[in-house]
Amino acid sequence: MSDIDSLEKEIMGAIAASGDDAALEAVRVAALGKKGSVSELLKTLGAMSADERKVKGPLINGLKDRVTAALADKKEAFAAAALQHRLETERVDITLPVRTEPLDPGAGRLHPVGQVTDEIIAIFADMGFQLADGPDIELDDYNFTKLNIPPEHPARQMHDTFYMRPDANGARHVLRTHTSAVQIRHMLAQKPPYRIIVTGRTYRSDSDQTHTPMFHQVEGLVIDESTHMGHLKWTLEEFCKAFFEVKSVTMRFRASHFPFTEPSAEVDIQCDRSGSEVKFGQGNDWLEILGCGMVHPKVIANCGLDPSRYQGFAFGCGVDRMAMLKYGMPDLRAFFESDLRWLKHYGFSLLEQPSLAGGLTR
Ligand code: PHE
Repeated sequence: MSDIDSLEKEIMGAIAASGDDAALEAVRVAALGKKGSVSELLKTLGAMSADERKVKGPLINGLKDRVTAALADKKEAFAAAALQHRLETERVDITLPVRTEPLDPGAGRLHPVGQVTDEIIAIFADMGFQLADGPDIELDDYNFTKLNIPPEHPARQMHDTFYMRPDANGARHVLRTHTSAVQIRHMLAQKPPYRIIVTGRTYRSDSDQTHTPMFHQVEGLVIDESTHMGHLKWTLEEFCKAFFEVKSVTMRFRASHFPFTEPSAEVDIQCDRSGSEVKFGQGNDWLEILGCGMVHPKVIANCGLDPSRYQGFAFGCGVDRMAMLKYGMPDLRAFFESDLRWLKHYGFSLLEQPSLAGGLTR
Protein backbone atom coordinates (compact mmCIF):
# COMPACT_ATOMS: atom_id res chain seq x y z
CA MET A 1 0.00 0.00 0.00
CA SER A 2 1.37 3.42 -0.98
CA ASP A 3 1.97 6.16 1.56
CA ILE A 4 -0.95 8.10 0.11
CA ASP A 5 -3.29 5.12 0.51
CA SER A 6 -2.30 4.48 4.09
CA LEU A 7 -2.58 8.18 4.95
CA GLU A 8 -6.07 8.20 3.46
CA LYS A 9 -7.04 5.13 5.44
CA GLU A 10 -5.73 6.73 8.61
CA ILE A 11 -7.58 10.05 8.04
CA MET A 12 -10.82 8.34 7.03
CA GLY A 13 -10.60 6.22 10.16
CA ALA A 14 -10.13 9.33 12.30
CA ILE A 15 -13.12 11.02 10.66
CA ALA A 16 -15.30 7.99 11.24
CA ALA A 17 -14.14 7.78 14.86
CA SER A 18 -14.70 11.44 15.71
CA GLY A 19 -17.63 11.82 18.04
CA ASP A 20 -18.44 15.51 17.84
CA ASP A 21 -17.76 18.76 15.97
CA ALA A 22 -14.66 19.56 18.03
CA ALA A 23 -13.04 16.16 17.37
CA LEU A 24 -13.90 16.44 13.68
CA GLU A 25 -12.35 19.91 13.54
CA ALA A 26 -9.15 18.50 15.08
CA VAL A 27 -9.03 15.85 12.32
CA ARG A 28 -9.56 18.55 9.70
CA VAL A 29 -6.72 20.68 11.05
CA ALA A 30 -4.41 17.67 11.27
CA ALA A 31 -5.10 16.83 7.62
CA LEU A 32 -5.95 20.05 5.79
CA GLY A 33 -4.68 22.73 8.17
CA LYS A 34 -1.60 24.80 7.26
CA LYS A 35 0.74 22.14 8.59
CA GLY A 36 -1.67 19.24 8.06
CA SER A 37 -0.54 15.91 6.59
CA VAL A 38 -2.39 16.42 3.29
CA SER A 39 -1.27 20.02 3.01
CA GLU A 40 2.35 18.95 3.51
CA LEU A 41 1.94 16.36 0.74
CA LEU A 42 0.51 19.04 -1.57
CA LYS A 43 3.57 21.20 -0.90
CA THR A 44 5.90 18.41 -2.19
CA LEU A 45 4.35 18.77 -5.67
CA GLY A 46 6.35 21.98 -6.23
CA ALA A 47 9.70 20.24 -5.97
CA MET A 48 8.78 17.36 -8.28
CA SER A 49 9.77 16.96 -11.91
CA ALA A 50 7.02 17.54 -14.43
CA ASP A 51 6.65 13.81 -15.12
CA GLU A 52 6.47 12.86 -11.49
CA ARG A 53 3.95 15.62 -10.83
CA LYS A 54 1.73 14.27 -13.61
CA VAL A 55 1.46 11.02 -11.70
CA LYS A 56 1.40 12.24 -8.10
CA GLY A 57 -0.64 15.42 -8.69
CA PRO A 58 -3.94 13.68 -9.35
CA LEU A 59 -3.30 11.20 -6.52
CA ILE A 60 -2.62 13.85 -3.90
CA ASN A 61 -5.39 16.18 -5.11
CA GLY A 62 -7.78 13.26 -5.23
CA LEU A 63 -6.90 12.48 -1.62
CA LYS A 64 -7.54 16.08 -0.66
CA ASP A 65 -10.93 16.11 -2.39
CA ARG A 66 -12.06 12.84 -0.78
CA VAL A 67 -10.94 13.96 2.67
CA THR A 68 -12.74 17.31 2.20
CA ALA A 69 -15.91 15.52 1.12
CA ALA A 70 -15.75 13.03 3.99
CA LEU A 71 -15.32 15.88 6.49
CA ALA A 72 -18.34 17.69 5.02
CA ASP A 73 -20.45 14.53 5.12
CA LYS A 74 -19.58 13.91 8.73
CA LYS A 75 -20.33 17.53 9.65
CA GLU A 76 -23.71 17.27 7.98
CA ALA A 77 -24.41 14.05 9.85
CA PHE A 78 -23.64 15.79 13.16
CA ALA A 79 -26.02 18.64 12.27
CA ALA A 80 -28.77 16.21 11.29
CA ALA A 81 -28.30 14.25 14.51
CA ALA A 82 -28.43 17.47 16.57
CA LEU A 83 -31.64 18.52 14.82
CA GLN A 84 -33.16 15.10 15.36
CA HIS A 85 -32.26 15.33 19.02
CA ARG A 86 -33.92 18.75 19.36
CA LEU A 87 -37.01 17.59 17.53
CA GLU A 88 -37.34 14.72 19.93
CA THR A 89 -36.65 16.64 23.13
CA GLU A 90 -38.62 19.79 22.21
CA ARG A 91 -41.64 17.99 20.91
CA VAL A 92 -45.00 19.71 21.48
CA ASP A 93 -48.04 17.57 21.89
CA ILE A 94 -50.32 19.17 19.33
CA THR A 95 -53.17 16.87 20.23
CA LEU A 96 -53.61 18.73 23.55
CA PRO A 97 -56.67 21.01 23.41
CA VAL A 98 -56.04 24.79 23.52
CA ARG A 99 -57.72 26.34 26.54
CA THR A 100 -59.55 29.38 25.20
CA GLU A 101 -60.71 30.60 28.60
CA PRO A 102 -58.75 31.19 31.77
CA LEU A 103 -59.49 28.62 34.48
CA ASP A 104 -61.34 31.20 36.53
CA PRO A 105 -63.45 33.18 34.04
CA GLY A 106 -63.50 36.22 36.33
CA ALA A 107 -59.75 36.51 36.61
CA GLY A 108 -57.29 37.20 33.85
CA ARG A 109 -59.71 38.88 31.48
CA LEU A 110 -58.56 41.71 29.29
CA HIS A 111 -60.19 45.02 30.22
CA PRO A 112 -62.35 46.53 27.44
CA VAL A 113 -60.06 49.57 27.34
CA GLY A 114 -57.09 47.32 26.54
CA GLN A 115 -59.13 45.42 23.98
CA VAL A 116 -60.40 48.57 22.24
CA THR A 117 -56.90 50.11 22.30
CA ASP A 118 -55.55 46.99 20.57
CA GLU A 119 -58.37 47.09 18.04
CA ILE A 120 -57.71 50.75 17.20
CA ILE A 121 -53.98 50.15 16.89
CA ALA A 122 -54.61 47.15 14.61
CA ILE A 123 -56.74 49.27 12.28
CA PHE A 124 -54.32 52.17 12.02
CA ALA A 125 -51.26 49.94 11.81
CA ASP A 126 -52.91 48.36 8.79
CA MET A 127 -53.12 51.84 7.22
CA GLY A 128 -49.39 52.36 7.80
CA PHE A 129 -49.49 54.43 10.98
CA GLN A 130 -46.58 54.16 13.39
CA LEU A 131 -47.16 53.88 17.14
CA ALA A 132 -45.76 56.76 19.23
CA ASP A 133 -46.08 57.69 22.89
CA GLY A 134 -45.22 60.25 25.52
CA PRO A 135 -45.30 60.62 29.31
CA ASP A 136 -48.44 61.10 31.43
CA ILE A 137 -46.71 63.91 33.34
CA GLU A 138 -46.22 66.41 30.58
CA LEU A 139 -44.69 69.84 30.20
CA ASP A 140 -47.22 72.66 30.26
CA ASP A 141 -45.43 73.87 27.13
CA TYR A 142 -46.21 70.68 25.16
CA ASN A 143 -49.69 70.13 26.55
CA PHE A 144 -50.76 73.73 25.90
CA THR A 145 -48.42 76.48 24.73
CA LYS A 146 -46.90 74.81 21.65
CA LEU A 147 -50.39 73.60 20.73
CA ASN A 148 -51.35 77.26 20.33
CA ILE A 149 -52.96 77.49 23.78
CA PRO A 150 -51.04 80.34 25.47
CA PRO A 151 -51.18 80.78 29.27
CA GLU A 152 -54.24 83.07 29.35
CA HIS A 153 -56.22 81.08 26.79
CA PRO A 154 -59.76 80.13 27.93
CA ALA A 155 -59.26 76.60 26.59
CA ARG A 156 -57.06 75.96 29.60
CA GLN A 157 -60.04 76.27 31.93
CA MET A 158 -62.06 73.91 29.77
CA HIS A 159 -59.43 71.23 30.28
CA ASP A 160 -59.84 71.14 34.11
CA THR A 161 -56.13 70.59 34.36
CA PHE A 162 -54.28 68.92 37.22
CA TYR A 163 -51.21 71.13 37.70
CA MET A 164 -47.99 70.06 39.41
CA ARG A 165 -45.90 72.45 41.50
CA PRO A 166 -43.42 74.41 39.35
CA ASP A 167 -39.90 72.92 39.42
CA ALA A 168 -36.75 74.85 40.49
CA ASN A 169 -36.59 76.59 37.09
CA GLY A 170 -40.22 77.62 37.28
CA ALA A 171 -41.28 75.10 34.57
CA ARG A 172 -44.70 73.71 35.31
CA HIS A 173 -45.73 70.14 34.63
CA VAL A 174 -49.31 68.96 34.23
CA LEU A 175 -51.02 65.60 34.04
CA ARG A 176 -51.58 65.65 30.29
CA THR A 177 -55.14 66.62 29.48
CA HIS A 178 -55.00 65.10 26.00
CA THR A 179 -52.71 62.97 23.88
CA SER A 180 -52.22 65.94 21.52
CA ALA A 181 -49.09 66.75 23.55
CA VAL A 182 -47.45 63.78 21.83
CA GLN A 183 -47.92 65.54 18.46
CA ILE A 184 -45.46 68.16 19.71
CA ARG A 185 -43.02 65.62 21.11
CA HIS A 186 -43.00 63.68 17.90
CA MET A 187 -42.61 66.70 15.63
CA LEU A 188 -39.76 68.07 17.73
CA ALA A 189 -37.95 64.74 17.75
CA GLN A 190 -38.43 63.41 14.22
CA LYS A 191 -38.27 64.67 10.67
CA PRO A 192 -41.44 64.81 8.55
CA PRO A 193 -43.37 63.11 7.02
CA TYR A 194 -45.32 61.92 10.08
CA ARG A 195 -48.01 59.30 10.23
CA ILE A 196 -48.47 58.33 13.86
CA ILE A 197 -51.06 56.97 16.20
CA VAL A 198 -50.83 57.56 19.97
CA THR A 199 -52.82 55.90 22.72
CA GLY A 200 -52.62 56.52 26.42
CA ARG A 201 -53.98 57.88 29.66
CA THR A 202 -55.20 61.45 29.95
CA TYR A 203 -56.43 63.39 32.99
CA ARG A 204 -59.00 66.05 33.75
CA SER A 205 -60.57 67.01 37.05
CA ASP A 206 -64.06 65.87 36.15
CA SER A 207 -66.34 63.05 37.32
CA ASP A 208 -69.87 61.93 36.42
CA GLN A 209 -71.55 59.12 34.50
CA THR A 210 -69.59 59.82 31.34
CA HIS A 211 -66.46 61.45 32.80
CA THR A 212 -63.70 60.08 35.01
CA PRO A 213 -60.61 62.02 36.20
CA MET A 214 -58.44 59.56 34.28
CA PHE A 215 -59.54 58.40 30.86
CA HIS A 216 -57.95 57.18 27.64
CA GLN A 217 -57.46 58.84 24.30
CA VAL A 218 -56.20 57.88 20.90
CA GLU A 219 -54.59 60.51 18.73
CA GLY A 220 -53.63 60.49 15.08
CA LEU A 221 -51.27 62.83 13.27
CA VAL A 222 -50.42 62.89 9.57
CA ILE A 223 -48.15 65.60 8.19
CA ASP A 224 -46.41 65.78 4.85
CA GLU A 225 -46.49 68.21 1.91
CA SER A 226 -49.87 67.34 0.43
CA THR A 227 -52.24 65.74 2.96
CA HIS A 228 -55.62 67.48 2.98
CA MET A 229 -59.06 67.36 4.57
CA GLY A 230 -60.24 64.74 2.05
CA HIS A 231 -57.61 62.33 3.34
CA LEU A 232 -58.80 63.01 6.88
CA LYS A 233 -62.40 62.17 5.96
CA TRP A 234 -61.41 58.99 4.16
CA THR A 235 -59.17 57.87 7.00
CA LEU A 236 -61.85 58.40 9.64
CA GLU A 237 -64.52 56.70 7.55
CA GLU A 238 -62.35 53.64 6.97
CA PHE A 239 -61.52 53.61 10.66
CA CYS A 240 -65.17 53.73 11.75
CA LYS A 241 -66.23 50.98 9.34
CA ALA A 242 -63.43 48.74 10.55
CA PHE A 243 -63.94 49.57 14.23
CA PHE A 244 -67.70 49.13 14.36
CA GLU A 245 -67.43 46.18 11.96
CA VAL A 246 -70.06 47.48 9.54
CA LYS A 247 -70.06 47.81 5.72
CA SER A 248 -70.92 51.50 5.67
CA VAL A 249 -71.21 54.38 8.13
CA THR A 250 -72.70 57.80 7.69
CA MET A 251 -70.61 60.48 9.32
CA ARG A 252 -71.28 64.12 9.92
CA PHE A 253 -68.46 66.64 10.11
CA ARG A 254 -69.63 69.57 12.24
CA ALA A 255 -67.56 72.76 12.25
CA SER A 256 -65.95 73.19 15.66
CA HIS A 257 -63.00 74.84 17.32
CA PHE A 258 -59.70 73.58 18.69
CA PRO A 259 -56.82 76.03 19.09
CA PHE A 260 -54.40 73.56 17.46
CA THR A 261 -56.39 72.82 14.30
CA GLU A 262 -57.81 75.07 11.57
CA PRO A 263 -60.32 74.28 10.25
CA SER A 264 -61.61 72.06 13.05
CA ALA A 265 -64.48 69.62 13.12
CA GLU A 266 -66.29 67.33 15.44
CA VAL A 267 -67.40 64.06 13.95
CA ASP A 268 -70.73 62.38 14.63
CA ILE A 269 -71.76 58.99 13.36
CA GLN A 270 -75.27 58.00 12.48
CA CYS A 271 -76.86 55.43 14.73
CA ASP A 272 -80.10 53.97 15.96
CA ARG A 273 -80.70 54.23 19.69
CA SER A 274 -84.38 53.24 19.65
CA GLY A 275 -83.78 49.66 20.80
CA SER A 276 -81.86 48.41 23.80
CA GLU A 277 -78.54 48.61 21.98
CA VAL A 278 -76.95 51.23 19.76
CA LYS A 279 -76.82 50.21 16.08
CA PHE A 280 -74.47 51.94 13.66
CA GLY A 281 -74.99 52.65 9.99
CA GLN A 282 -78.76 53.20 10.39
CA GLY A 283 -81.32 55.23 12.39
CA ASN A 284 -81.97 58.90 13.17
CA ASP A 285 -79.55 59.59 15.99
CA TRP A 286 -76.07 61.07 15.89
CA LEU A 287 -73.30 60.29 18.33
CA GLU A 288 -70.24 62.48 18.66
CA ILE A 289 -67.12 60.34 18.52
CA LEU A 290 -64.10 62.52 17.90
CA GLY A 291 -62.47 65.89 17.30
CA CYS A 292 -60.22 66.59 14.34
CA GLY A 293 -58.92 69.17 11.91
CA MET A 294 -56.02 70.38 9.82
CA VAL A 295 -53.01 71.02 12.06
CA HIS A 296 -52.76 74.76 12.74
CA PRO A 297 -49.85 76.45 10.91
CA LYS A 298 -48.74 77.96 14.23
CA VAL A 299 -48.38 74.48 15.75
CA ILE A 300 -46.28 73.37 12.78
CA ALA A 301 -44.13 76.50 13.13
CA ASN A 302 -43.84 75.98 16.91
CA CYS A 303 -42.18 72.64 16.14
CA GLY A 304 -39.60 74.26 13.87
CA LEU A 305 -41.19 73.26 10.56
CA ASP A 306 -42.15 75.54 7.69
CA PRO A 307 -45.97 75.73 7.60
CA SER A 308 -45.92 76.92 3.99
CA ARG A 309 -44.36 73.60 3.08
CA TYR A 310 -45.84 71.12 5.56
CA GLN A 311 -49.50 70.44 6.22
CA GLY A 312 -51.68 67.64 7.52
CA PHE A 313 -54.39 66.55 9.87
CA ALA A 314 -54.84 65.41 13.45
CA PHE A 315 -57.67 63.74 15.30
CA GLY A 316 -58.33 62.66 18.84
CA CYS A 317 -60.97 60.51 20.41
CA GLY A 318 -61.86 58.93 23.73
CA VAL A 319 -61.06 55.23 23.90
CA ASP A 320 -63.37 54.61 26.86
CA ARG A 321 -66.24 56.25 25.01
CA MET A 322 -65.57 54.15 21.92
CA ALA A 323 -65.60 51.04 24.12
CA MET A 324 -68.91 52.09 25.71
CA LEU A 325 -70.45 52.64 22.27
CA LYS A 326 -69.20 49.43 20.73
CA TYR A 327 -69.80 47.10 23.65
CA GLY A 328 -72.77 48.80 25.26
CA MET A 329 -71.55 49.71 28.73
CA PRO A 330 -73.83 52.35 30.28
CA ASP A 331 -71.56 53.86 32.97
CA LEU A 332 -67.96 54.91 32.49
CA ARG A 333 -67.18 54.86 36.21
CA ALA A 334 -67.53 51.06 36.29
CA PHE A 335 -64.47 50.89 34.01
CA PHE A 336 -62.25 51.82 36.92
CA GLU A 337 -63.91 50.08 39.86
CA SER A 338 -62.09 46.76 39.40
CA ASP A 339 -65.31 44.84 40.04
CA LEU A 340 -64.60 41.25 39.01
CA ARG A 341 -68.25 40.65 38.11
CA TRP A 342 -68.08 43.53 35.66
CA LEU A 343 -64.77 42.31 34.21
CA LYS A 344 -66.15 38.81 33.86
CA HIS A 345 -69.08 40.18 31.92
CA TYR A 346 -67.36 42.77 29.73
CA GLY A 347 -63.77 41.49 29.65
CA PHE A 348 -62.07 39.76 26.73
CA SER A 349 -60.07 36.60 26.40
CA LEU A 350 -56.33 37.18 26.52
CA LEU A 351 -55.83 34.72 23.69
CA GLU A 352 -57.72 36.75 21.12
CA GLN A 353 -55.47 39.31 19.52
CA PRO A 354 -57.50 41.72 17.40
CA SER A 355 -56.32 41.91 13.80
CA LEU A 356 -57.92 43.02 10.57
CA ALA A 357 -57.22 39.67 8.95
CA GLY A 358 -58.39 37.51 11.85
CA GLY A 359 -61.23 39.78 12.96
CA LEU A 360 -61.27 42.48 15.63
CA THR A 361 -63.66 40.61 17.89
CA ARG A 362 -64.69 36.99 17.79
N1 PHE B 1 -57.17 67.02 21.89
C1 PHE B 1 -58.57 67.22 21.58
C2 PHE B 1 -59.40 66.90 22.85
O1 PHE B 1 -58.88 66.30 23.76
C3 PHE B 1 -59.02 66.34 20.45
C4 PHE B 1 -58.38 66.68 19.16
C5 PHE B 1 -57.18 66.07 18.76
C6 PHE B 1 -58.94 67.62 18.29
C7 PHE B 1 -56.59 66.39 17.56
C8 PHE B 1 -58.36 67.93 17.09
C9 PHE B 1 -57.19 67.33 16.74
O2 PHE B 1 -60.53 67.25 22.94
